[in-house]
Amino acid sequence: MIDYKPAEGFSKPSNDIINYLHSLSWQEVAQLPDHRGNNLRKTISKVVKLNKDNICIGAGISEFINILPDLMKAEFGNNTTNIVVVPTYKPLLEASHKYDSNLVKVYLKEGNAFEWSDELTKKIIQIMNKADRRCVLWLCSPNNPCGTVIPLNIFELLANQPKCILIIDEAFIEYLDDYIDSSAVSLIKKYNNIIVLRTFSKIYSCAGLRIGYAISDKRWINKINKLILYYNTSTIAQRCASLVIKDTGYINNLRIIIREAKNFFYKEIAKINNVKIGSNSQSNLVVLKSSGFDLYNYLLQNRVLTKDLSGLDGMPDGYIRVGLKSLKSSNILIEFLKMTT
Ligand SMILES: Cc1ncc(COP(=O)(O)O)c(C=O)c1O
Repeated sequence: MIDYKPAEGFSKPSNDIINYLHSLSWQEVAQLPDHRGNNLRKTISKVVKLNKDNICIGAGISEFINILPDLMKAEFGNNTTNIVVVPTYKPLLEASHKYDSNLVKVYLKEGNAFEWSDELTKKIIQIMNKADRRCVLWLCSPNNPCGTVIPLNIFELLANQPKCILIIDEAFIEYLDDYIDSSAVSLIKKYNNIIVLRTFSKIYSCAGLRIGYAISDKRWINKINKLILYYNTSTIAQRCASLVIKDTGYINNLRIIIREAKNFFYKEIAKINNVKIGSNSQSNLVVLKSSGFDLYNYLLQNRVLTKDLSGLDGMPDGYIRVGLKSLKSSNILIEFLKMTT
């Protein structure tokens, strides 16, 4: 089976990680980890140009997605309106209505290639203005599955709404060349109502280590610290994350590989009549739609596994998602797609 389904990292982790793992001392296994990942927070603080008190280490974004509904409930009771923009990462959507508090879904439009629009901003601000309570807005940028990105000025506009708490999943942000400037993290010094979630599972290819981080105003970080497990991440995961976040060459190289794979894929698919790309993805994920046949099952019968998006809230029928890895893997997929014409 050729596997295009996973959203997580796909390449060998940084050599610094491989070398470290080979030289691991038994003490690092035997002793307890630093329970708040002090050294890793220091390293991240230099990268994101914030204080280490603005950072909390977690067992992947999943840990934060798991506790944030509890935190919002502890802060505001059931008195919140949750707004979620779909399609989005399913666990994020599920977290947004974990406690059955008021949920409003807002849709990225297929006709607009799942891009953010002024209409969407207006709609969200209208909902917030009408609400007589706190509004928690759950966003994913770059979006999973579509790879589309929310512009920074939109985050700022939303953060300026008085009732708004912004939770932004940036699992795929490092795929952008200018990720430091286009990330919502650059607003955290100015606004105290933004929580950004990041992970080492995607471009850094460390999904098995289970490590990520939340960045926010100190007040939110203190509250998150009270809800997470005391020893939530291992010494090994913390050390690997510290090594790879310093290895800028590693992600620079992967961005080049993905850009090459994507450019080729977009160019070649334009020549195939009955399969279309659904969005202008800024990550390694690409959504595809077929006309007149079942693309997911056609590929599956040819032993090519993709992510079937049917039934995903906000995603019209007939879409699949593929994770591109390299020029070679794009080429193989294109050859299968050509055979459909
Ligand atoms: C958008 C998004 N957020 C979060 C996650 C989970 O990340 P982690 O491995 O850090 O828990 C995923 C995994 O697929 C994802 O696609």
